[in-house]
Amino acid sequence: MSSTPSAHLQTLRLEANEDSIAYAAAQLRAGEIVALPTETVYGLAGNARDAAAVARIFAAKGRPSFDPLIVHLASESGETFTSPSRQLEAQGWIDAAALSEEAQAIVDRLVRAFWPGPLTLVLPRAPAVLEAVPGAVPTVALRMPSHPIMQRVLQQSGCALAAPSANRFAQISPTRAEHVMAELQGRIPLVLDAGPCAIGLESTIVQVDAEGGLALLRPGKIGASLLASFGRLRRASEGAVHESTRPLAPGMLSRHYAPQTLTRLFETPLSLAQSLRELGASLQSARAGEGIGLLLLQAPDAELRALLNTWPAHYCRWLSEGGDAEEAAHRLYASLRELDGLALSALWVQCPTQEEGLWGAIRDRLRRAAAAPAD
Ligand code: TXA
Ligand code: MG
Repeated sequence: MSSTPSAHLQTLRLEANEDSIAYAAAQLRAGEIVALPTETVYGLAGNARDAAAVARIFAAKGRPSFDPLIVHLASESGETFTSPSRQLEAQGWIDAAALSEEAQAIVDRLVRAFWPGPLTLVLPRAPAVLEAVPGAVPTVALRMPSHPIMQRVLQQSGCALAAPSANRFAQISPTRAEHVMAELQGRIPLVLDAGPCAIGLESTIVQVDAEGGLALLRPGKIGASLLASFGRLRRASEGAVHESTRPLAPGMLSRHYAPQTLTRLFETPLSLAQSLRELGASLQSARAGEGIGLLLLQAPDAELRALLNTWPAHYCRWLSEGGDAEEAAHRLYASLRELDGLALSALWVQCPTQEEGLWGAIRDRLRRAAAAPAD
């Protein structure tokens, strides 16, 4: 597999409309790769049944080829899934025989409840699924996105689309077309721009094992407590699902989704206030603290505001005025990118304390962002 992307002198960024959707679909049918909006983050898509297209995705991202891609499926409008697991088998994606009847019933219930939407299912793969799943994994990751533009491209191209997040390997996922341009300009031919992604965090990934046990491989908007009502759920860290020792989902590598700037987490405004006081005492002047950017979960209270008065205002951001998790998730990556772009010496980022739900997913991403770089 080639590691250098084919040179595209210019990356076209087109507003998503009838014409650009038709053009993107034709490009995909012809084996090209295209960055597309989804409800979670922008994806870099290629025909999942075309080995050359899949190789182009890996080359453009600079992604190691052992890391498999999620396959995105079209939703046929008005379709009621009588037996989604049988349907996925008939379409040549999964090996339903490798799932017990109970496991198949759980897959069916999960699909009916959450597709189209931000849930990726990792299931035993059919032997024919080769291109989208390089390496030796015996599974395939499938998702039916709900974004209307993504769905129209899927339907018009007639291709299932392998699509990782449209960023360079180990960088922050893009939630706007301009982020895709910042990451991949000159490395891909086309981005369809449909504005900011509604959710802003990557899909929840759940593996269903042969007996119907569920393993949460990546937390997301669809939370663990909701999933636990569908079957026995464990977090992947509680025990590997594959025999191999390499990470189940490289999203699980400790450092991933990382800004360039040194990132330090704190959990409460109280510990921030303490750090600010210590910093203030150790610095000659408040201006010397200008090299630090602050990202809070919600607007600071009066006490913190008073402390921050000496702080250059444009270096302090909060994700949601009133501490709303959906708004915070929606703005997380764009805010990190913006602060990262200021070339500061450090980012101090407030990390939610909750392990559950959307706050838990934000916590997961921030802990990875702040992990020490692997050498
Ligand atoms: O929201 C999303 O899921 C976005 C949008 C574009 O759909 N996609 C996305 O893809 O986040 P990516 O490649 O950036 O992250 C997918 C993760 C990777 O960590 C990959 O290792 C894991 O899913 N994955 C893919 N296939 C897998 C499999 N068969 N078993 C375990 N993990 C898998
Ligand atoms: Mg990614």
